[in-house]
Amino acid sequence: MLSKIFLSSDHAGFELKEKVKNFLINNSIHFEDLGCTSLEAVDYPDYAKILSKRLKKQNKAKGILFCGTGIGISMAANRFSHIRAALCTSVEMASKCRKHNDANVLALGGRILEDKLALEIVKEFLYTDFEAGRHSLRVDKI
Ligand code: RB5
Repeated sequence: MLSKIFLSSDHAGFELKEKVKNFLINNSIHFEDLGCTSLEAVDYPDYAKILSKRLKKQNKAKGILFCGTGIGISMAANRFSHIRAALCTSVEMASKCRKHNDANVLALGGRILEDKLALEIVKEFLYTDFEAGRHSLRVDKI
């Protein structure tokens, strides 16, 4: 069963967040949108922080963050020690960030990715499990 999903974006990631929300709704996947709520300019570190704090309380949950490139918001989220945020631009990266890195947050660039690819990345991230074993020790060292 899928764990709870939290979504959060700045203004540059807002439109892609809305498209991912539609995908989650259409697939009956439980999520919570933590903002932002419009195209009005906001600061991506604030939204990385909001989501990271929620994941601290619900450590089985996953997050998806969006900004223009996915870079800034992933950098900001990775300042929190319980966050392993992976900026992905391909399905292969989404697969590997789950299998090898046990990423608990996916970061996407709303100004970088085509919608279709973004949704394929989201699906791969949500439905791929961590391959424990040799990868566990490395993740523990992060
Ligand atoms: C906002 O203009 C943009 O800088 C931000 O969304 C993100 O791309 C930063 O990494």
